Amino acid sequence: MLDKRIVDLRSDQLEGVRAKNVKEHFEKQYKMGSLLGSGGFGSVFSGQRISDGLQVAVKQISCDRIQQWASLPGAANAVPMEIALLLCLGRGSGSGHRGIIRMLDWFEMPGQGYLIVFEKPQHCQDLFDFITERGALEEPIAQRFLKQVIEALQFCHSEGIVHRDIKDENILVDTRTGDIKIIDFGSGAVLKDSIYTDFEGKAASGWLLHMHECNMNVELFLMTFLSF
Ligand SMILES: Nc1ncnc2c1ncn2[C@@H]1O[C@H](COP(=O)(O)OP(=O)(O)O)[C@@H](O)[C@H]1O
Ligand SMILES: [Mg+2]
Repeated sequence: MLDKRIVDLRSDQLEGVRAKNVKEHFEKQYKMGSLLGSGGFGSVFSGQRISDGLQVAVKQISCDRIQQWASLPGAANAVPMEIALLLCLGRGSGSGHRGIIRMLDWFEMPGQGYLIVFEKPQHCQDLFDFITERGALEEPIAQRFLKQVIEALQFCHSEGIVHRDIKDENILVDTRTGDIKIIDFGSGAVLKDSIYTDFEGKAASGWLLHMHECNMNVELFLMTFLSF
């Protein structure tokens, strides 16, 4: 079995992290709906925020599927790396980047796992389903998507984060506007110059594991390569 790794995040990477939430708080604030999709790490359900009816997506991840943990400054327990990376990406006054899914909330279910609440764009579909339904993308649409993914990845890299699992299932498309958002930071990591010795995703971008420099250019190169 793989070691569960705990990475210390620098305090300048995470500011103002809230105290942990527990499941009872989730049930007071959100209603869960039907299954939207599932992948290697969790199941994602539609949901609704009770206070204002906002449509959300809720990702359920169980503790035994989490391979990477992060210890947050000032917090007693480690949290899944996915939550820590999303906190990093959403911090600050700009509330992240329009091409990256926004985490609205997260909750711990002691002994079981975590619930992560995300924004859910109104008319969205992941790119895998989009392509399955519509067939091969026309070049202008493909170019538009690729440009947006690259811009979003550049933002991640500027924040010191690498996604490592860019593939069609992890890209949401707003079917009305053609805007995209990158989802699923479950295989993500903090950018570093040394060798990565772990990877839990299944995509071709898993090759990143064997690269000495998992830097911006490598991930962007793979993104371009995967789009052909
Ligand atoms: N915010 C969201 N809004 C709508 N659908 C989503 C959202 N997040 C995930 N999904 C759907 O759920 C699927 C699985 O989510 P993902 O986070 O990739 O889980 P996993 O880590 O198990 O791969 C996605 O491929 C997508 O179809
Ligand atoms: Mg996924």
